[in-house]
Amino acid sequence: MKNELTRVQMNVLKRIRPSRSERERLHRVTQQVITAAESALASRNLSATVEVIGSAARDTWISGDEEGDQDIDIFIGFDASTSREDLERYGLEIGKEIAVEGYIIGFAEHPYVKARCGGFAIDVVPHYRIKNTRQILSAVDRTPFHQQFIAEHLDGRQDDVRLLKQFLKGAGIYGAELRTKGFSGYLCELLVIKFGSFVNVLKSVQDWKVGTCISLTSEDARNSFASPLAVIDPVDTNRNVAAAVSLDSFSVFIDSARSFLESPCIECFFPQQIPPLDASAFQAIVKKRKTTVFGVKFDLPDLVDDIAYPQLERAHKGMLIALVRHGFSALRGDIYYERGEAVLLFEMLVSQLPAVERHEGPPVDSKRHANKFKKKYANNPLVLSGPYIDGGRYVVELRRKYLTLPEYVAAEFKNVRSSKAILRAMEQEFQILKDEELLDSDGMRLFLARYFDRTLNNCD
Ligand code: UTP
Ligand code: MN
Ligand code: MN
Repeated sequence: MKNELTRVQMNVLKRIRPSRSERERLHRVTQQVITAAESALASRNLSATVEVIGSAARDTWISGDEEGDQDIDIFIGFDASTSREDLERYGLEIGKEIAVEGYIIGFAEHPYVKARCGGFAIDVVPHYRIKNTRQILSAVDRTPFHQQFIAEHLDGRQDDVRLLKQFLKGAGIYGAELRTKGFSGYLCELLVIKFGSFVNVLKSVQDWKVGTCISLTSEDARNSFASPLAVIDPVDTNRNVAAAVSLDSFSVFIDSARSFLESPCIECFFPQQIPPLDASAFQAIVKKRKTTVFGVKFDLPDLVDDIAYPQLERAHKGMLIALVRHGFSALRGDIYYERGEAVLLFEMLVSQLPAVERHEGPPVDSKRHANKFKKKYANNPLVLSGPYIDGGRYVVELRRKYLTLPEYVAAEFKNVRSSKAILRAMEQEFQILKDEELLDSDGMRLFLARYFDRTLNNCD
């Protein structure tokens, strides 16, 4: 078994350790970007520092199978006396000037430029130069301290970090973005430092409990953070590096660690690609499940993932609650969001209702309400039976207003708990797609394939 564990790790490393030519390309592009940033600063008479940070600087980056997967993090350090407006404005200006091949704007604590250069994604992040982490002015100001800590403590275990990152990617939980709610690169580095190797990290993880707290400096750390996992930032003990990790990502990590240690396999790192669904495969699946799948589709063109995702989650949940309250019943759902196109997906156990619904009124002994209720439903054309008394209360059976999910959503979406941006987007235009109609793009065909295939990435 031990050999198997070693063999799998070696095979994975062959695929994820950057090749000499990749390293050279990264190095070349990094130098170009630094030079461009420095001259952009000089031409504005700004005296800011330019530093490479993150996995490119620490040599913990993963060889990308897709061009443009890998990022280079460039940090522009401004004097602490710079105003926040200037910091943001200059940061964006310099980022855009570097971005000869185009850019998008990302958001962390403040907006920053994600530029494309020479096949890499370049994150150009402005920050304040501070002397110690007690003087932090913006959240990214800790990053240079992370850099220093990792440089001093990683001690040649870059490959273990790479393995851990790829393992988490395989499990779908790498990345602290709100879409993934998983483990960041810095967190991977800290875990390897704490436990010594990739395999030792997994050995610890398999016994983790909700509320686990890890500190690199003290033995009996207490989790005073309201999150399933706390990893105390060695450069700032007030911060939990694992704050983004959701209960589900935490649990998926434990499950994958157990199954990998039991039977190590390369598929844990590189899950089998499932093919996108076509109409006939879709029909075969739905025929077995006998559910009806609906998608509420609209455009949200101007929002970055970290802003859009929580709003889409709120809207999805709000709609689900409203649907259930109205008498429909759902098995599961999901959110699709790619290039500004959003689909709220609902797989329904019941999406078509009988015309009659039960409506409960007040208890008979509350005289005032009783009179009101009886008056409201006397000679009311919506009433099919009643009012009658059941369990001490008045009850009427009414004709339902909406019998199908599309009718309900089309008429009531404005009354569902959502966000302003989504409401505005839906007021512009939205479509309700049903079953095969959902397969209207490659993205959706793959999304639905994954939706139905939903299984833990275990080898056993
Ligand atoms: P990255 O997200 O680019 O991570 O953030 P990374 O460590 O370089 O890993 P990969 O290989 O690109 O996925 C760059 C640095 O910014 C800081 C960390 O120090 C990180 O190493 N950072 C980033 C934070 O402190 N918090 C964050 O939420 C994100
Ligand atoms: Mn990075
Ligand atoms: Mn980055």
